[in-house]
Amino acid sequence: MNVDLRKGKINKNIYGHFSEHLGRCIYEGYWVGEDSPIPNTRGIRNDVVEALKKINIPVLRWPGGCFADEYHWKDGVGPREKRARMVNTHWGGVVENNHFGTHEFLDLCEKLGAEPYICGNVGSGTVREMQEWIEYMTFDGESPMADWRRENGREEPWKLKYFGVGNENWGCGGNMRPEYYADLYRRYQTYVRNYGDNKIFKIACGPNAGDYNWMGVLMREAVNFMDGISVHYYTVPGDTWEEKGSATEFGTEEWFKTLKKALWMEELIKKHAVIMDRYDPEKRVAMIVDEWGTWYDVEPGTNPGFLYQQNTMRDALVAGITLNIFNRYCDRVQMANIAQTINVLQAVILTRGREMIVTPTYHVFEMYKVHQDAELLDFHLESEEYRMGEETIPAVNVSASRAGNGDINISLCNLRADGEAVVECILNSTEFLAGSIEGRVLTAEKINAHNSFEEPEGVRPENFTGAELQERGFSVKLPAASVVLLTLKRR
Ligand code: AHR
Repeated sequence: MNVDLRKGKINKNIYGHFSEHLGRCIYEGYWVGEDSPIPNTRGIRNDVVEALKKINIPVLRWPGGCFADEYHWKDGVGPREKRARMVNTHWGGVVENNHFGTHEFLDLCEKLGAEPYICGNVGSGTVREMQEWIEYMTFDGESPMADWRRENGREEPWKLKYFGVGNENWGCGGNMRPEYYADLYRRYQTYVRNYGDNKIFKIACGPNAGDYNWMGVLMREAVNFMDGISVHYYTVPGDTWEEKGSATEFGTEEWFKTLKKALWMEELIKKHAVIMDRYDPEKRVAMIVDEWGTWYDVEPGTNPGFLYQQNTMRDALVAGITLNIFNRYCDRVQMANIAQTINVLQAVILTRGREMIVTPTYHVFEMYKVHQDAELLDFHLESEEYRMGEETIPAVNVSASRAGNGDINISLCNLRADGEAVVECILNSTEFLAGSIEGRVLTAEKINAHNSFEEPEGVRPENFTGAELQERGFSVKLPAASVVLLTLKRR
């Protein structure tokens, strides 16, 4: 590791989240209403806000997802009892009462200290609707929308930085071809105005996973009209959407397969970055991985449209690997949003009525928060192989950064389901002499270990003593199936 070679700032927004009107993410997850017996502030549950604040959520994407291209924001403002009801056709066909709308979302972001990232409706919404939403939220003067906002109780405009022009418009957001969406993007974004000193960072809908054609067309046709472009990639262990695999019932083969698929994120980023470089060699446009995470079969007996799944040590490894990859490509990846914060897909929080637990993935976000806005360091890793039958993947995955206080933080994942991994690290530096090394580890006896409402603390980080300072660096023994964070302090 070369401590003197800084490779750019790790944008804290890489540690962002995504929360959709889907299953029990918004309703019950965040929103319980002002009259709920569950302790809340203006309808938003206190326990969840408190837990999320501990992981420093920098940015929160909302209202979808597929829901965004069916969402009509005007239905979600004004007195709650008068708000229009709709059917959430994508997600379980349940009635959406619109009690959680623009004001509630922006209130939540203020509580969390997170930047809001709102996704607008291109699939079934109008240009005017999108224009008026921006005016409603950010215009300070006298105008129909700003006046309406005031009538609805908010005098000052909000600051809104991140705005997405449509979601998955190649799929649930309208089944468009890239040429058609590129033209629509250019048109819609024209009316996403900057009012006063509010400057919007416009995000175009980018490709699904390895759709390099979509990336190429969008960059070619619309690069000058965007600040960022999204990429979506989910880790699905099964070979079909019908059989994605269980979140908790799996063996080492599924473990290996899942981690191998998670590692594919690196290839995706590299290949999309090559295309982006062609049209944007200065790297002005950000790659925004605004949906990522594991996707399994729903928990038995739950609504298939609610995407509720448990979260094990396997998810912790997927999170650890993926965040390491984002850190290492921070020259292009400026934001990422795990899907989804609460009760949906790779959640960091699960709730059951008034009960709340945090998942192994939550702990990885908590451990890795030291990388937020830190300087990426050069780390050259020669890893042993982890073999399963004919296939191999690197056994160890790593990223390292230097924090503002001078500490060096190194996050290491041992992908092996069984068997420790030894890492010998040489520290090259003309000015940093390590005086101490300390660490934390997240691991468990079983690879499918998880937290439950009955045993909420089954998986949680512990102090780690398996690292040792040496003459020229350090050596560390990573337990099987573990995520380790080491901190080196200067002598
Ligand atoms: O996160 C669940 C869904 O996955 C989102 O709504 C959609 O954008 C993606 O296909």
